[in-house]
Amino acid sequence: MNLRDRYINFFVERGHKQIPSAPLVPENDPSVLFNTAGMQPLIPYLMGQPHPYGTRLCNYQKCIRTTDLEEVGDTYHHTFFEQLGNWSLGDYFKKETITWSFEFLTKELNIPIERLAVTVFAGNDIIPKDDESIEIWKSLGIKEERIYPTENDNFWKVGETGPCGPDSEIFYFRGNEEIPLKFDPEDERWVEIWNDVFMSYNLKEDSSLEELPKKNIDTGMGVERVVASLEGYDDNYMSSIWKNPRKKLEEISSEVYDSNKKSFRIILDHIRTAVFILADPAGVKPSNTDQGYILRRLIRRAIRHAKKLSIDTNSSWMEELALIFIDDFKNYYKELEDNKEVVLEGLKAERIKFNRTLEKGLRKFEKISDKDIDGITAFHLFDTYGFPLELTIELAKEKGLNVDVEGYNQKFREHQELSRSSSQGKFKGGLAGDSEIETKYHTATHLLNAALKEVVDKNIHQRGSNITVERMRFDFNCDHKLTDEEKMNVEDLVNKWIDEGLDVRVDEMSKQEALASGAECMFIEKYPDIVTVYSIGDISKELCGGPHVKNTKEIGEFKIIKEEASSAGVRRIKAILEF
Ligand code: SER
Repeated sequence: MNLRDRYINFFVERGHKQIPSAPLVPENDPSVLFNTAGMQPLIPYLMGQPHPYGTRLCNYQKCIRTTDLEEVGDTYHHTFFEQLGNWSLGDYFKKETITWSFEFLTKELNIPIERLAVTVFAGNDIIPKDDESIEIWKSLGIKEERIYPTENDNFWKVGETGPCGPDSEIFYFRGNEEIPLKFDPEDERWVEIWNDVFMSYNLKEDSSLEELPKKNIDTGMGVERVVASLEGYDDNYMSSIWKNPRKKLEEISSEVYDSNKKSFRIILDHIRTAVFILADPAGVKPSNTDQGYILRRLIRRAIRHAKKLSIDTNSSWMEELALIFIDDFKNYYKELEDNKEVVLEGLKAERIKFNRTLEKGLRKFEKISDKDIDGITAFHLFDTYGFPLELTIELAKEKGLNVDVEGYNQKFREHQELSRSSSQGKFKGGLAGDSEIETKYHTATHLLNAALKEVVDKNIHQRGSNITVERMRFDFNCDHKLTDEEKMNVEDLVNKWIDEGLDVRVDEMSKQEALASGAECMFIEKYPDIVTVYSIGDISKELCGGPHVKNTKEIGEFKIIKEEASSAGVRRIKAILEF
């Protein structure tokens, strides 16, 4: 029987109710991007609210931890992982939970006691040493040398505030060598597999601890590590959990996996995580912020490592791998099957997008990588060519160069600020995102609007627009199909203005003042009383939320790709910029 089922059965037999795995993107907690632990969706109940299922709960929960994204690539860290958990909400406490943990491992899973060690809380100024847990472990037969009191890692908290408490971690010895008598936290052959947290405090904003109304238990066991351990592997990726996707990747790459092949692990881990994020009900798509940014980084890092394995990254290799994960996990996570098409489409779209920008970016990187990479350049690679920071770091490392990470972070924060303030603006002027490329397109729509008035008809106005990093779409009122000559003249005029290097100016003024000055505006009623007006030289003036380039010479070359009917009396131009 599968580990998940054995675990759930074991705790259900001991009076627990199984609760469903919550979505990866927390429903009511904007402070974190993803659930990082099984207890996260249970925070209100750990804080004292009664749970509809009672006081003994258990489940398997989807989790994502991205703090150690850089570490992923070793044999036992994963971005996505499943945590098996049992909880007591003011019901049982240390004796029961430690005893059950011990019984599950040694009796249900038949792990020899010689392979186990535990850590316990050593005590500090506020909370005393956890002698009670030490005694319980001893009574179960764990030898003193295998009970290790420590303060550092043995106080578990979910964040800077919230439920927390001392814990006792259980370690499994993974080596095939003789097992050392004494537990050594520095010896990596001891792998943490389960954590019993005695959650009886609330960490407050001023860093003080207050006792919770009830003493709770929160435990978490890592499925990947336990399965690998039970199957006798010291590399998680060799276990049955990864067997099918590993085989598929071997087939795709025509290489056989061994533990020296870090790229294999990165690809397997990241694609699996991407599949679960895309299938989550929150509907996350790759983007440059929040969950979408993590998703984008994962997919793009996987693609880069696929290149290292000489996989044809233009093929549908990612989707093929995704199908294996979906098949393997769908019985436990139904959303994978339900959202299969969304997952496959999401991967495909990002793959195509990234391949295109990656080629451009790699050429750019070659040109600039004769010296260390400063923060502005690293951000430019991210914003314009879609390079996640860590991709730049990896490429730089290969050339023995450093990257100014602090400088990059600074630029990134500025960018986030910009995108926040622009999305708070009432009207976004058709702007789909805020990357540098989209900003260029945005200014180009203003030039196009002005050029159409000049070349075709001064009564033309914008009826809509849509921008992506690939192209712009601009709808305008017009009673006829543009002639080839009109199209050519419009294109030439836009390019002439770009070449002239016209400054773009932004002014704040009242709505009346803006209209009186002849500023162009699409839906006047949508604007607040004070508006921003963008002017380009003296050829264009529009009410708009921005952002825009500072000078038209930043825009690149403008090309009309298509002119067609959009709806009655409305024409549509599709255009691209070439840089
Ligand atoms: N919340 C604790 C952890 O994640 C126990 O589950 O380690």
